[in-house]
Amino acid sequence: MTNNLLVYDTKYGSTEIIARWISEEVGNIDVKKASEVTSIKDYSLIVIGSPDYDDKPLVSISEFMKKFNKELKEKKIAIFVVCNDLEEGEYKGKQIGGKFNLEILRRELPKENIILEDVLGGVFNPKILDENDQERIVSFFNEIGKPIKKEDLVFMPIMNKLDRAKCKEFINKLKAV
Ligand SMILES: Cc1cc2nc3c(=O)[nH]c(=O)nc-3n(C[C@H](O)[C@H](O)[C@H](O)COP(=O)(O)O)c2cc1C
Repeated sequence: MTNNLLVYDTKYGSTEIIARWISEEVGNIDVKKASEVTSIKDYSLIVIGSPDYDDKPLVSISEFMKKFNKELKEKKIAIFVVCNDLEEGEYKGKQIGGKFNLEILRRELPKENIILEDVLGGVFNPKILDENDQERIVSFFNEIGKPIKKEDLVFMPIMNKLDRAKCKEFINKLKAV
């Protein structure tokens, strides 16, 4: 029995790889997909990891945070956001990317309980997106003035920003908690 729980979800696999790295190196941590969690009462540290989709966590992660909202106020919380936009910048007067992506989880959690947070790179693979995500990416490129068609996506390069060394820094801090 461990006191630590890692809750995550993934759509295309990057967040799962990171969850596995954490689990391998931390050792004494239970790892569950958000939709599988039925209770958090036995844990004192909850690590929450979600990919960023259009500045939002996955629905299952939001539902987890909502469902356990009260209990999370009694826990130590660590968060990591997996995304592709690792550079901070401004878009339409809004600060986006890098550490600003942490907000997608922070805004749904008791902030004073967050003891550790990090933004970690994932994989963006335009070749494997489902229909809905293809449309989202096409409209994003149109919006930023770089019009593309759905058929072009398959020729776009895969962006692999998974970085085990950076992840290790997060893991080391986690171990020291
Ligand atoms: C439709 C779509 C929307 C995305 N929106 C964002 C975003 O708002 N910010 C960002 O940094 N990355 C964004 N990404 C990149 C993903 O966060 C990145 O590919 C991540 O590694 C996906 O994690 P997963 O493989 O665990 O699902 C988006 C990707 C897709 C396909």
